[in-house]
Amino acid sequence: MDILRSPEEMQAWSRARTRENKTIALVPTMGFFHEGHLSLMRRAAELADTVVVSLFVNPTQFGPNEDLDRYPRDFERDMALVRQEPVSAVFAPTPEQMYGQGFQTEVRVLQLATHLCGRSRPVHFAGVATVVTKLFNIVRPDTAVFGEKDFQQLALIRRLVADLNIPVRIVGHPIVREADGLAMSSRNANLNPANRAAALSLSSALRLARAEAARDVRDAAELTRTLTSHILSHAGTAIDYVSLVDCDSLEAVAAVDERTVLALAVHVDGKAGNRVRLIDNGFILPR
Ligand code: PAF
Repeated sequence: MDILRSPEEMQAWSRARTRENKTIALVPTMGFFHEGHLSLMRRAAELADTVVVSLFVNPTQFGPNEDLDRYPRDFERDMALVRQEPVSAVFAPTPEQMYGQGFQTEVRVLQLATHLCGRSRPVHFAGVATVVTKLFNIVRPDTAVFGEKDFQQLALIRRLVADLNIPVRIVGHPIVREADGLAMSSRNANLNPANRAAALSLSSALRLARAEAARDVRDAAELTRTLTSHILSHAGTAIDYVSLVDCDSLEAVAAVDERTVLALAVHVDGKAGNRVRLIDNGFILPR
């Protein structure tokens, strides 16, 4: 497995694969791998001849008071894990290599970025759209695989490649969960194990929403009230949003149907007095 540090090295590597008529699938990540990332890599290997994993904690997608400094990092651990997967190359640049002196370009997806996480994280999606566009230009993948846990991010990237005619097939991969239902996330490393119940309030809210919808509760306002009080009944939780939205437009719905996704963002008490922001989502009715 090759480890490539600079955009130029990565581009040269990809050009060589293209000359060999090999297709490339990219798995963009910010590292601190868990089973969710590894399943994206395995899925990518089914879709292309070679898999490239990018590992870059992108500073531009973190707001000033967010957890950039606390974001878990362990390059050696990540390399040990990725070497056991069907991955041909890891692209791991530094922030200076990605955002050289004088950098001043931004990619923004307008409407989709205003909903859900975009309300409390106003700079986040411009940072994501910009870095993903750069990764596509550097790696030149045929396919890119993204987790469905970041549901809004996936919707936005699908829009981005359609709007800018970027010739990359975008593939979403289902959320991977711990045995107790918690959606896997690198940020889970910052959770306080003594307060696991708070973190589990998101996945149990999803189950509750499905149970309520199955007994014909379809009114979004009523469901939102029920789910909000369910989450807040767990000590150490503070809600960012509980939203029932259309799966494509991400607009709030008045009544749930087969296209409705429950999207959740909740701050829970974590280690060392820090709060950890968790997200989760899922369709409410069978599709
Ligand atoms: O989902 C992530 O880990 C990041 O947002 C991504 C897509 C790698 C861009 O930095």
